[in-house]
Amino acid sequence: MASGRGSNFQALIDAAERGEIPDADLVHLIVNKKDAYALKRAKKHEIDYTIITSHDKSRREFDQSVLKLLKELNIEIVVLAGFMKILTPEFIDTYRNRILNIHPSLLPSFPGAHAHRDAIKYGVKVSGCTAHLVDEGIDSGPIIMQTSVILSDNETEESLADKILKYEHQILPKALQLLCSGKIVVNGRHVKIKSN
Ligand code: GAR
Repeated sequence: MASGRGSNFQALIDAAERGEIPDADLVHLIVNKKDAYALKRAKKHEIDYTIITSHDKSRREFDQSVLKLLKELNIEIVVLAGFMKILTPEFIDTYRNRILNIHPSLLPSFPGAHAHRDAIKYGVKVSGCTAHLVDEGIDSGPIIMQTSVILSDNETEESLADKILKYEHQILPKALQLLCSGKIVVNGRHVKIKSN
């Protein structure tokens, strides 16, 4: 699921084409905005897609429409690849520990929609990105993988976003492969990765 540019979606496509996510099949893209650039990427790579707009629906209506589609398509794992909406508890519960999100900060620091701005404003020296399972909170679910980056003295929101994005593109496909291969064991907040 994506809301905009879809560079993380593209990273999944590229990793799949390189054979790095052998246990995943990227079957369908869902976007909540008609003009999401992610759609162009799906078309180019011949991945089926559906637009389910969210601006004209309640959260519950939106999630019910998505859940219905996921059921019809027998979807097992959901990836939030720059999907900028909070899902309802019912959605989370239906896909408990099967929803993966990528977030551009070292969680639990700077959750929400303005992670880069918040990190710079706070004055941190290190930030990064987090691939995690989604629970009912905002960017609060069990952490699978993180990568850090060092901020420069004159870091801007844009430069930090660029710096972090390339690591997002690395860890999201890795986390997806781990999830799809059944190597992730969740115990409360703690995620262990089985070695084989
Ligand atoms: C990415 O940086 C992603 O981590 C972030 O939105 C951007 C989407 O870029 N997600 C969040 O902030 C979620 N809280 P993309 O559309 O090019 O993948």
